[in-house]
Amino acid sequence: MSDDSPRLPVVGTPAPAAPLDLTDDELEDGIRRLKAERNAVILAHYYQESEIQDLADFVGDSLQLSQAAARTDADVIAFCGVHFMAETAKILNPHKVVVVPDLEAGCSLADGCPAPAFARWLERYPGHTVVTYINCSAEVKALSDIICTSSNAVKIVKALAGEKVVFAPDRYLGAFVKKETGRDDIPLWPGTCIVHESFSERRLLELKVRHPDAEIIAHPECHEGILRHAAHVASTSGLIKYARESPTQTFIVATEAGILHKMQAEAPGKTLIAAPPDDESCACNLCPHMRRNTLAKLYLCLRDLQPQVDVPEPIRVKALAPIQRMLELSA
Ligand code: 13P
Ligand code: SF4
Repeated sequence: MSDDSPRLPVVGTPAPAAPLDLTDDELEDGIRRLKAERNAVILAHYYQESEIQDLADFVGDSLQLSQAAARTDADVIAFCGVHFMAETAKILNPHKVVVVPDLEAGCSLADGCPAPAFARWLERYPGHTVVTYINCSAEVKALSDIICTSSNAVKIVKALAGEKVVFAPDRYLGAFVKKETGRDDIPLWPGTCIVHESFSERRLLELKVRHPDAEIIAHPECHEGILRHAAHVASTSGLIKYARESPTQTFIVATEAGILHKMQAEAPGKTLIAAPPDDESCACNLCPHMRRNTLAKLYLCLRDLQPQVDVPEPIRVKALAPIQRMLELSA
C-alpha cells in the first residue's frame, strides 16, 4: 500500500479483552483445529480484517460467497461478513449450522429498508418486477422477484427488458444500473451505504493531481461524484481483477479499504491508494459493521457454535426463490 493511504484505526466493537488469554498465533491455531473438528468452512468477504481473510477457506464478493455457500458440503458455515450475507447462506442451507463472529454486524443498506415500509412502497408499483440488491434482510428478499449483487445487477436488469422494474435498496447502485442499461424508468428505494457515500470528490481530485498516472477504480455503491471520475466501476472481485490485469501501476481505490489486502496480493508491486473520505479525521472508508468481526470472536463462534443465524421457515422459502433465480442467471 502507498504512504498516501490514510491511517485507518480499527473501528467497531473490539475483541473481548484477552479472551482465554490466547495470543493471535494461539487463536489462529485454535481456529484451524476447531474448523477441522466441526467440519466447518470459513467464508470471508474482502472487507474483513486481513488476519480473518488469511484464515478463510474462501474469500470473495457477495455473489461468490453465495455461490460458495450453495455448494459447500461442510456441516458448519462460519460466515465472516455481515448479517445479510450469513442469512443468505442459511437460506440456501437450512440444515447446516451457520455461525457468525458477531450477530450485530449489520449493514446500513439492509437497516435502511425495513420490510413493512418496503411492502408499502411496493404497493405504489403494481405489475413491476422487484429487483433487490442482496444487501437486505430475508424479509425484504421474501418480497422480491429477483436478487442481484453488484457484480450482476446490470446483467439482471438487462435480462428484464420489456418488464417494468423497481430497484432497492441502494440508490447509487440503482442509478448506475439505470445509466448502464439506458433505462430511466426504474423507481429506486432511497438507501445508501455509509461507507461508499462518505468518499469526497474534492479530496479524490486532489489525490489525482498528486498521482496523475493513477487510475481511479470504484465500487458502484459510490455516489456519482466519485463514479464520474472512475476508469473502471465493478464489484469487489471485479476491482481486484482489474487491478491485477490492467497495465496501470497505480490505482486510487474507492471502496472499503479492507479490499486492499487481497488486491495487493493479486497485484504485487502495484501502488494502491485508498480513496479518501470527506471527513479527514474519520476512518469512514472502513465498514464499522464488517470490523465487528475479530479473530477472537471467530474462535469463540467455532468453539461454542454460537451465535447462530436462523431464518423462520415461511420467510426462508419465500426468500429462497429470488436468490435461486439470481444464481441460475449468474451460473
Ligand atoms: P460486493 O462484494 O458484492 O462487491 O459488495 C460489496 C459490499 O458492500 C458488500 O456489503
Ligand atoms: Fe453494508 Fe456498506 Fe458495510 Fe457493505 S460496506 S456491509 S454495503 S454498510
